[in-house]
Formats: sequence, structure tokens, C-alpha cells
Amino acid sequence: MIKLISASLIAIAATIGIASYSTSSASAGEAPCKATEFKTELVKAACEKGGQKEAKAVMKTFMKEKKIKSCNACHTKLAPNYEMKKDALKQFTDAGGK
Ligand code: HEC
Repeated sequence: MIKLISASLIAIAATIGIASYSTSSASAGEAPCKATEFKTELVKAACEKGGQKEAKAVMKTFMKEKKIKSCNACHTKLAPNYEMKKDALKQFTDAGGK
């Protein structure tokens, strides 16, 4: 009996955990950024504001300003995961990004 109660408590806790997880991210119906920890202020702010769509927009502006020609200078893949090269962050900060 005790076993049964504690099992169902765990189940309830797990359900609550999943529910709050899935509602916490994503603003304004946009796909949220994949990253949960950010190393740059630029992308962090953009992701908080408008998810990946906003992040893309600020990255494009950043590239124009810094005259970087391709997203692939830093990302090995684009949507949906935007995998980065090892030196992506270094390139970003070297170019003057924060
Ligand atoms: C100078 C290097 C550099 C270039 C060029 C670049 N990015 Fe990024 N990008 C980064 C870095 C570094 C991050 C991670 C920032 C962080 O951790 O705060 C990032 C993160 C992102 C993210 C957030 C990913 C997520 O879901 O967590 C998106 C979207 C993105 N970039 C899109 C683009 C697009 C689209 C382009 C081309 C228009 C581009 N980037 C060009 C360096 C770059």
C-alpha cells in the first residue's frame, strides 16, 4: 500500500514537472531557442524576446555590421539546431559582439 502511494506521488510530481516545463519557454508563439544557457548578451536578449526568429534577425544584422558573409562561418548547420563550430563564440566576440 505504501509503495502504491509513493508510486502515484512520483507520477503526479512528474506530470507537474513536465507541464510546467512545456509552458515556461516560447514567447509569442515563436519557436524558442534551443539553447538554455547563453554566452552572449545579444542572442540571450533576442531569444527571450522572440525565440529563434528574433535570434535569426539579430544575427543577420550582426553579420551585416561586421561584414561576415555567411551564417556558416560560425554555424555548421542552420535550422532547427544551429549547431556551432568550436570557434563560433570566439569569432563572435572577436568581431566585437557581446
Ligand atoms: C560570428 C559568428 C556567427 C555568425 C556569422 C552567425 N552566428 Fe548565429 N550564433 C553564434 C553564436 C556564438 C551563438 C550562440 C550565442 C549564445 O550562446 O549566447 C549563435 C546562436 C544562434 C541562434 C540561436 C540558436 C538556438 O536556438 O539556441 C540562431 C537562431 C542563430 N545563431 C542563427 C544564425 C543565422 C540565421 C545566421 C546567419 C544569418 C547566424 N546565426 C550567423 C554565432 C554566429
